Amino acid sequence: MRLAHGAPFAAHAERLRKASIPALLAADAVRARDWSARLGPLSFHYARQRLDRAALAALVDLARRVDVPGAFRRLVDGAIVNLSESRAALHTALRSDLGRGSQVEAARAEVRATRRRMRELRAALVESPVTDVVSVGIGGSDLGPRLVVDALSAHRDPRFRVHFLSNVDGHAAARLLAELDPARSAAVLVSKTFGTQETLLNGRLLADWLGDPRRLHAVSANPGRAVDFGVPAAQVLPMWDWVGGRYSLWSAVGLSIALALGDVHFDALLAGAAELDAHVLDAPPDSNLPTLHALLAVWNRRALGLPTSAVLPYDQRLALLPSYLQQLLMESLGKSVRANGAPVDGPTSPVVWGGVGTDVQHSFFQMLHQGTDLVPCEFIGVMRPDHGHVDNHRALLANLLAQSEALANGADADDPARRYPGGRPSTLLLLDALTPRALGLLLAFYEHSCYAQSVLLGINAFDQWGVELGKRVAGTLLPALEDPAAGEVLADPVTRALLLEFRNRR
Ligand code: F6P
Repeated sequence: MRLAHGAPFAAHAERLRKASIPALLAADAVRARDWSARLGPLSFHYARQRLDRAALAALVDLARRVDVPGAFRRLVDGAIVNLSESRAALHTALRSDLGRGSQVEAARAEVRATRRRMRELRAALVESPVTDVVSVGIGGSDLGPRLVVDALSAHRDPRFRVHFLSNVDGHAAARLLAELDPARSAAVLVSKTFGTQETLLNGRLLADWLGDPRRLHAVSANPGRAVDFGVPAAQVLPMWDWVGGRYSLWSAVGLSIALALGDVHFDALLAGAAELDAHVLDAPPDSNLPTLHALLAVWNRRALGLPTSAVLPYDQRLALLPSYLQQLLMESLGKSVRANGAPVDGPTSPVVWGGVGTDVQHSFFQMLHQGTDLVPCEFIGVMRPDHGHVDNHRALLANLLAQSEALANGADADDPARRYPGGRPSTLLLLDALTPRALGLLLAFYEHSCYAQSVLLGINAFDQWGVELGKRVAGTLLPALEDPAAGEVLADPVTRALLLEFRNRR
């Protein structure tokens, strides 16, 4: 494998490709203790990865040579890290005072002013008859806030119920609106561009259903479009080009979070992320949690060639974490060219997938234990639950521990069908409790790991040109669904045939 600065890892990978994880642990008496790190309520345990100290040292050395620490500094100081769009990616300025220079100061001033407007808007809604707020958005304008609101439901402020509407499929809107009363509802249309088809269609549907523009709000980097749409200008909150959609839950995009949880908990979420921001700037690569996480991800994907990676929260409240991470990681890292436009020289993003334990033990864990592909697993556990069902929680933790052990160690049997090969790498992330602070820290941990991976791979984590073609083609096809003549001129023979089929079956 060759990485951003051409470091050769083939020898380490060759030596370790078939290594037994129990043997690696047996050969290193203090590995289980040493290969873990902690920051506040979050600890990270990686002793069950398929590498040894020599390979880990080489990885840490790579992080130094590629200058991951300098890359974090440049990110936080607002350097142009998104080269294809000539943009900074200043999500850290949404929650931390760590950036230097006039550009970051100006950004921070805008962030503070926007937070004030978010509080005012919330206060105005509290005074109104509104009980239900629908957040309309998709991708980065949906997944982060949806995850946070769901995960922190124990901290919910009873004044509002917050709902999310993303899919253009009208069933989603129909189901949601059937539960709500337009006279007691408000909507927040969240779209950085205010040009996303799904959000505009669902936004129009909501605006018509509400029948009163005074209960429409928007968050956008294109406020003019939101006003043209019919949102009162005083109710349009800003977003900025220097925040990527999938890194934006800390901005006014998180208005739904502030409404659902209250300002105090929203502030705690930001404070948790800020702790992680300080950590990435301070800690050297060998004790920097996101850097270590990124190095292991790149090791599994590039050096060991493992094509997928599973995210397995053992906590129902984190059921949406895999979807959130799919966008964060695959939209950021699913690239075939380097930041300078040259082709990459190896794999980039794994396919990220997963689901919540223990449910998934009874669905895809068969494949994890005995399938032909090795899947590195990331287990996420929470020590103290928000409920009093002690036996359930004990069973949950026992399963979490058991799965990671069984995947690594395997078990022999005479009958090949009953044999467990083991050797399946995993990491464990443990939170003391699922508080707003801890969740902020966890999500910022993933953001920074993702960025560090992009630096190691030499790719741009902050653009997503890959999603544009499909949108363009859908735009061209839309008229053909109404007008058969428009379909006949389409170039693609399969699409032409399918359109005919659509027409015959409607
Ligand atoms: O389709 C991908 C994408 O551009 C994401 O990156 C983004 O989070 C999402 O669409 C929504 O975009 P917007 O906030 O502009 O509506």
